[in-house]
Amino acid sequence: MTRTRRDALKLGAVAGAAGAAAALGLPWRALRAQGQQPAGLIERKIPHTGDRIPIIGIGTARRYDVGASEAALAPLRQVLRNFTRMGGSVIDTAPTYGRAEEVVGRLIQQIGNRDRVFIATKISLRGRSGRQAGIEQMEQSMRRFGTDHIELMQVHNLGDWQTQLPLIREWKAAGKLGNIGITTSFDGQYEEMERIMRTQEMDMIQVDYAINNRNAERRILPLAADRGFGVLINLPFGRKSTFAAVHGKPLPSWAADYDIHSWAQYFLKWIVSHPAVTAAIPGTATMSYLVDNLAAARGRLPDAAGRRRMLEYFQSL
Ligand SMILES: NC(=O)c1ccc[n+]([C@@H]2O[C@H](COP(=O)([O-])OP(=O)(O)OC[C@H]3O[C@@H](n4cnc5c(N)ncnc54)[C@H](OP(=O)(O)O)[C@@H]3O)[C@@H](O)[C@H]2O)c1
Repeated sequence: MTRTRRDALKLGAVAGAAGAAAALGLPWRALRAQGQQPAGLIERKIPHTGDRIPIIGIGTARRYDVGASEAALAPLRQVLRNFTRMGGSVIDTAPTYGRAEEVVGRLIQQIGNRDRVFIATKISLRGRSGRQAGIEQMEQSMRRFGTDHIELMQVHNLGDWQTQLPLIREWKAAGKLGNIGITTSFDGQYEEMERIMRTQEMDMIQVDYAINNRNAERRILPLAADRGFGVLINLPFGRKSTFAAVHGKPLPSWAADYDIHSWAQYFLKWIVSHPAVTAAIPGTATMSYLVDNLAAARGRLPDAAGRRRMLEYFQSL
């Protein structure tokens, strides 16, 4: 049974104690308002809504597109359970990532940690268009997560944005969505994305950015900062191409000054220390990757000079 946000907030007001709030299954924002999110990870604020999210989340493309066998689901369940236990919150998915959205939705309901998850999903119509198609897809996402409130709804790859952006603005006004935004991972869409960012109201954008893929920092990231939009970073490892570039190479000794102890942490800390970035969403489907990647949300981060040094070292390899 789903519960409206208003009901949940009312319940939150009377629930009081931390354990009681968690047990009632309050949505993410209500729980956060009571200070119930586990601490320890560095967080940033999404300026328009004031929502605070940890700087490292999880991406679910490909690796969460699995069948219904327990063998396939068990490792993902373990990752998602421990993700929120360790203070994680943002999970990015999409209805067009094969079965990923369905899998994540079902696992979160089984685990019972929906309250701690900041769901980021998408209207992803792939060639289809129109208001009704957007509505049907969002309703399907809500059903898959067993919720009536999604923390971030994004228009995937700008698809049919002229219709879908006003639609999600309406749904936000009606209290069904917490934040709204648009995504891309294609340089060829940057110009259009900039135009939309200049003229449209939204809360967040999502764009590709990695130490070996820096085009977003020319115009998209500064514009997002100017407009007060939060920024999620997709493809932070360039689908593993960053690791291939450093294969067999050591981390510099000074990486420890930034509490960096692996190449994954090096790549992620380089990204999230960009002042316009709110959070990165590395594809994370194993416990060892989870532990490694979440460590990038703790400890010291490089300043601008440190970031330059990190880039120069990477480029020298
Ligand atoms: N337009 C859009 O909206 C858009 C486009 C692209 C992506 N996204 C989102 O962004 C997320 C991230 O992108 P992505 O998953 O495609 O690529 P990615 O994050 O750049 O790379 C993920 C891959 O890196 C490897 N990896 C992860 N953690 C590691 C670690 N600690 N050490 C070594 N290797 C590690 C894993 O490869 P193996 O599993 O092979 O070991 C993983 O599948 C997606 O899952 C999706 O949610 C959105």
